[in-house]
Amino acid sequence: MKERLEAMKAEALGRLAEASDPGRLNELRVHYLGKKGQLTEILRGMGSLPPEERPEIGRIANEVRAAIEAVIAEKQARFEREETAARLEAETIDVTLPGRAPRIGAVHPLMKVQQEIEDIFLGMGYAIAEGPEVETDFFNFEALNIPKNHPARDMQDTFYITDEILLRTHTSPVQIRAMRAAGGRTPLKIICPGKVFRRDDDDATHSFMFHQVEGLVVGPNIRMSDMLGTLLQFARAMFGPQVTIRQRPSFFPFVEPGAEVDVSCAQCGGEGCRMCKGTGWLEILGCGMVHPRVLEHGGYDPKEVTGFAFGMGIERIALLKYGIDDIRLFYGGDVRFLRQFAKM
Ligand code: PHE
Repeated sequence: MKERLEAMKAEALGRLAEASDPGRLNELRVHYLGKKGQLTEILRGMGSLPPEERPEIGRIANEVRAAIEAVIAEKQARFEREETAARLEAETIDVTLPGRAPRIGAVHPLMKVQQEIEDIFLGMGYAIAEGPEVETDFFNFEALNIPKNHPARDMQDTFYITDEILLRTHTSPVQIRAMRAAGGRTPLKIICPGKVFRRDDDDATHSFMFHQVEGLVVGPNIRMSDMLGTLLQFARAMFGPQVTIRQRPSFFPFVEPGAEVDVSCAQCGGEGCRMCKGTGWLEILGCGMVHPRVLEHGGYDPKEVTGFAFGMGIERIALLKYGIDDIRLFYGGDVRFLRQFAKM
């Protein structure tokens, strides 16, 4: 029996030495040490041994088991080390590989122009105010001195939600809201950027929704020359130091006097070109001295303060600034168009 045990040990160690994967290792363990394995098989003969020999055989059997287990454990550990090493090798990151650059979006050209306008006026001490896109008839029209029969109220121009509630047709209602919020304090200097809505048929120069920036200054002794100086400053910051402006009389119910301001064509320097349709001038905004009735609606006493206001379309400024000829490009979401502004 002793010989059988020694022979089994030798055979087992020999086969284990040749085992080259964990699966084989396990097979051999089961074969020699398992419940129905060789060792058990041999020890079953213990009963027929004289009792005095049994401890000796038991000791040898334990040694054999321990020797085989030791080899299995050692090889098992080696296989695991090798596997880890192989995995580390296979999964290494090549840090020298050029990266895959993520596609980065860009600020929409309209928002870029809006931010630029904001920056220019913030630099002149203005604050930014906002108002709701869904307005009441009162703020959008009535308080702005636009009487009930004014053509601007026509169903053709305005999206009405009810008789009293509508989508604002311009950013001018924010003038009233800002004046009321100021509670009579002066000077009030604000700009209000935002979306406005008109019942227009969309084409290259019209859209049912577009963006405006409103400006409002209220204080003692605010004069028309303050307004023109401010707008000249703005035009030069926006279109270049070489441009100039001119004003033409115009009518808006909420200002008196009212004007429209043109900027000299930056493209041709006023010579006349396709961009300015040969006139040398480009219309950029409406403006005027705040009407006394509007000041009153805002909670100011027109005998004590005066003010000026202006309103411009952001799309129009962007068209002129970038030489774009179709407003619909701004809303189409075509990345080939939009990407061109990423680096501007
Ligand atoms: N609200 C006018 C418009 O939408 C623009 C404007 C604003 C004119 C302020 C004068 C003063 O056309």
